[in-house]
Amino acid sequence: MRDAPKAYIKTYGCQMNVYDSERIADVLVQDGYQLVEDPSDADLTVLNTCHIREKAAEKVYSELGRLRVLQDKRGSDGKPMKIAVAGCVAQAEGDEMLRRARNVDVVVGPQAYQDLPQMLKVPSGKAVGQDFSPEQKFSALKKAGLQRPSPPTGFLTIQEGCDKFCTFCVVPYTRGAEFSRPEVEILQEARDLVSRGARDITLLGQNVNAYHGEASSGDTQSLAGLLYALADIDGLERLRYTTSHPRDMDEDLIRAHGEIAQLMPYLHLPVQSGSDAILKRMNRKHGRERYFEIVDALREARPDLALSSDLIVGFPGETDEDFADTMDLVERVTYAQCYSFKYSPRPGTPGADMEDQVPEPVKAERLAALQSLLNSQQIAFNQAMEGRVMPVLFERLGKFSDQVIGRSPYMQAVHVRLAPGEDPKALIGHIRDCEILQSGPNSLSGQLLQQDAVALA
Ligand code: SAH
Ligand code: SF4
Ligand code: F3S
Repeated sequence: MRDAPKAYIKTYGCQMNVYDSERIADVLVQDGYQLVEDPSDADLTVLNTCHIREKAAEKVYSELGRLRVLQDKRGSDGKPMKIAVAGCVAQAEGDEMLRRARNVDVVVGPQAYQDLPQMLKVPSGKAVGQDFSPEQKFSALKKAGLQRPSPPTGFLTIQEGCDKFCTFCVVPYTRGAEFSRPEVEILQEARDLVSRGARDITLLGQNVNAYHGEASSGDTQSLAGLLYALADIDGLERLRYTTSHPRDMDEDLIRAHGEIAQLMPYLHLPVQSGSDAILKRMNRKHGRERYFEIVDALREARPDLALSSDLIVGFPGETDEDFADTMDLVERVTYAQCYSFKYSPRPGTPGADMEDQVPEPVKAERLAALQSLLNSQQIAFNQAMEGRVMPVLFERLGKFSDQVIGRSPYMQAVHVRLAPGEDPKALIGHIRDCEILQSGPNSLSGQLLQQDAVALA
């Protein structure tokens, strides 16, 4: 019998791509592929790509260059390797990609993964799939879903696409219009994830709080309603959702943060800029005062809520005063963690054609100042955990044989060393109270509370 063909999948970009790569793996395995960790073993390499900033898209072309060398080597050994480019670069570039990178065989956008096995078999050897049909995608991919174990922290895409059209952003073009999956399908997938080992599920969507899927009752369900329904699932200990738009943070959702015990006290709520003038040019549909109101209401509902955000510096027209407003907003809100970027003009988006593009050195200087402030906030947030006791969900083994790494309610990595005789593997998938002993900029370290250690022994 012939050996199963081997596939290697590399993922770039956001968590929705991580989720999609799992679905790509499902369809390939169903089609007879075996997954491998090293491209030199692969008959097929899939790059699941991101188009959000210029650098992200460039990475794909440099990876294709590196893979060419591997392809040539495998070719001369009589073991050719096919390459499929999936994700947002595939959607944005389509057949242009086949011309630009001749070693690519298949280009497949985010809504067409169910077609990948067929595309790999076309007689000409080259295929492009860019259809937008999220309904088909989810129903076909659900059927292919395999009973592979899930890590303790799982992802579940509930919404795709975006109708907001922020003037800097490619997502509405690469992922298409907003689409929400029906509630029954989501509840089923969540139960399934829990039965396979997930304890902490993050609901995903480019604009997740715009969720408006068909409710089990036939009405329209909101994200808040969906969270209450998910909280009833036995064994689902923690819930999170990302990424949210401030404009869609409604009262019910804010209230849910105070009422649903499983909803973790950490929220990614991107603001992008602290200047009203820039927010307007970005077409963000909210001002800074509205953002403060939302943050206050959230903290009233859940006083220990930790916030994170995305910020862009150097959007066209951004003056020193506008940037000072961003620094001021960050100081007022105080983030636990944040992502910050230099504005990257993306072809086809309105921002790219705006006048008053900010020079690169100015962007670099502003980014450095902003990141220094954000880093100090992150360090202070982590430091405030020292001495506290908190429930940690253990996820994976550490680099030492007595070490296990978990996640705090606030998304921090928590490193724990166990006493001799205790088995770190036995902790994975379990939540235990830990005392935090030390903090660093990116993680915490702690120990199991005494009674837990005894109970485990
Ligand atoms: N849906 C999310 C964002 C998805 S993109 C939201 O509405 O907030 C992730 C982040 O990438 C954005 O929040 C933004 O900060 C950043 N980003 C998007 N386009 C960008 C661009 N052209 N240049 C720099 N950063 C960008
Ligand atoms: Fe992009 Fe988010 Fe704006 Fe949608 S809401 S256009 S995904 S930044
Ligand atoms: Fe990138 Fe597409 Fe996600 S552009 S950030 S992979 S939606």
